[in-house]
Amino acid sequence: MSTPAKIAMAGGFTFDMTDVDGVPEMTLIADTVRTLKSRRLRNDDILLCTYPKSGTHWTWEILNMIVAGKAEYTKHWQNSAWLEYRTEEELEELASPRIFHTHLLPRQLPESVWRLGCKIVYVWRNPKDCAVSSFCQESSQMWKDGSQDKYNFTGSWDDFLSLYQDGYIVFGSIFDYTHDWNKTAEKLTICQVQYEDMKKNCANEIRRMAEYLNRPLPEKTYVEIAEACSFSNLKHANENIKDQTYHFKWQQGSSGYFRKGKSGDWKNWFTVAQNEKFDKIYEAKLKKPFPY
Ligand code: A3P
Repeated sequence: MSTPAKIAMAGGFTFDMTDVDGVPEMTLIADTVRTLKSRRLRNDDILLCTYPKSGTHWTWEILNMIVAGKAEYTKHWQNSAWLEYRTEEELEELASPRIFHTHLLPRQLPESVWRLGCKIVYVWRNPKDCAVSSFCQESSQMWKDGSQDKYNFTGSWDDFLSLYQDGYIVFGSIFDYTHDWNKTAEKLTICQVQYEDMKKNCANEIRRMAEYLNRPLPEKTYVEIAEACSFSNLKHANENIKDQTYHFKWQQGSSGYFRKGKSGDWKNWFTVAQNEKFDKIYEAKLKKPFPY
């Protein structure tokens, strides 16, 4: 019988995938995802929740700077604090307040997140731009620090988009993810941030995040953080200043996690037919017209 993970692998993904609660995950982290619900967190842990390619690196660095109170880069790449990827022991070593990032659905997170009332910053982005960004990543990245000698995805853009919009991809459907986080945001006070708003006025969004975290900073610090985390500065810092221990492997010459950093690149990729189909699926799943 075909399952979402099997369909994804047959469709062109080269790494091993396993379904956990109906969601395809990298087999590498499937056991962690299965047991994560009982993981005990600290009450000052901060969670950055994003669907892949929504601006996770950008926001994670910003959150670290807010907590530090200054525009100083962290030593490591964000994957050093990836909730479902790093071991519990590795994460235990991080100093409080820990700032994790995760691509999991609300129902997959540790139950202690809700019991302790951990702060949650949820970032979303135009799903068409996420799709393009994801395709560019998967077709030029070798997973697991290069231990297998193939790019993550070997099919065409059209193959990829079909799998993507049907949720046959790690972390599942972007539409389900958006739906579930929207529902959670109706019930709890979480900080919701949109990638496109950060592009328009980053200092403003940094202020909102700092206030939500009860860590307000002088106005000039918001501006300094926005500048330090601009696309070109953050790309430079990650690729040239940071320790590279937690950086995964990419095709030679690829632009890596920091590709274009723009809103609207999807227009260079989607055909009219692909666009119409994507809008229809969005509308059916989210019960509202495509908002961009
Ligand atoms: P593109 O591939 O469209 O350029 P994530 O960190 O969740 O993997 O998201 C990566 C996407 O965010 C990439 O999008 C990347 O270029 C973009 N990005 C990273 N840092 C950024 C920044 N400082 N400003 C704007 N976009 C940024």
